[in-house]
Amino acid sequence: MKKLIIAGGTGFLGEVLINYFKEKASEIVVLTRSKKNNYDTIRYIYWDAQSLTGWEKELEGADVLINLAGKSVDCRYNERNKSEIMASRVNSTSILNKAVLQCSTPPKHWLNSSTATIYRHSEDKQMDEVNGEIGHDFSMNVAKVWERTFFQTKTPDTLKTALRTSIVLGKNGGAYPMIKKLTQLGFGGKQGSGNQYVSWIHEYDFARAVAFIINQKIEGVINVVSPTPVRNREFMKTIQHRVKIPFGIPISKTLLEIGAKIIGTETELVLKSRNVIPARLQNEGFEFKYNTVQKALVDL
Ligand SMILES: NC(=O)c1ccc[n+]([C@@H]2O[C@H](COP(=O)([O-])OP(=O)(O)OC[C@H]3O[C@@H](n4cnc5c(N)ncnc54)[C@H](OP(=O)(O)O)[C@@H]3O)[C@@H](O)[C@H]2O)c1
Repeated sequence: MKKLIIAGGTGFLGEVLINYFKEKASEIVVLTRSKKNNYDTIRYIYWDAQSLTGWEKELEGADVLINLAGKSVDCRYNERNKSEIMASRVNSTSILNKAVLQCSTPPKHWLNSSTATIYRHSEDKQMDEVNGEIGHDFSMNVAKVWERTFFQTKTPDTLKTALRTSIVLGKNGGAYPMIKKLTQLGFGGKQGSGNQYVSWIHEYDFARAVAFIINQKIEGVINVVSPTPVRNREFMKTIQHRVKIPFGIPISKTLLEIGAKIIGTETELVLKSRNVIPARLQNEGFEFKYNTVQKALVDL
């Protein structure tokens, strides 16, 4: 690949993708709202994620565009945060649609973030891309509007893929370091009933899946999740085992609600049952390196 553009590539998944692709792409351009120094073949270009201010020229002739921009959902869902969560995703996607359309040689493939949270809470049914059921709360509505904004503009020369990604487990970012710390402190018991499913993917498989989607030219929506979602109680037990703490205090829903208020987050992030499977990736022949949570945690 000659040129890869990553919008919103300064966060956790941006770092994961930069590490994976830096040897495989001649040049990586990251669109960011902050000032960052270029290094090696990585260039940082300013954008405001909502208007055309010159950054759009970078898209000309690029091979692939990946958009990861969006305010973190790890916050209280008050009106201000909710509106920023929605606007940051919709505005960045919408302005990228404009930028792609005005290129004379647009990126060949555009992968836009979405989320496996688009499917309803499910302890009974596994959600794939065809039979998965999409529900109606704040998070699911954000995901729907985000995907609608992405797909509603037709880009005849650019393939489009929405990545319905589950919780990405990584060493240096995302949810895992915090869960591990809590477990080391003895609070690694089940959360709520513990029956809810955790849909997860190892950071290396996330990057490999993105590369696979690009190589195979896969379009449309795709679940970027491991094939083995596990119940929260099993997930927490496996972490306990890995960090060699023989017990884990369970945390009830009420206690989680109090804790979430104190640290400024939402219980949905741990209590929603995400029972999602990667049907399309597997049908296309993708092989996971970390296909069980045990293997993933041994590595992490
Ligand atoms: N991590 C996961 O497990 C996971 C799972 C499913 C889906 N996702 C989705 O994947 C995307 C990337 O995830 P991540 O974990 O890398 O997130 P992250 O670490 O929070 O990074 C997101 C990036 O978005 C940009 N951003 C933040 N607020 C913004 C705003 N108000 N307007 C425009 N841009 C803004 C930031 O870049 P600058 O400050 O440099 O502009 C930031 O580096 C997100 O959309 C997330 O919802 C993540």
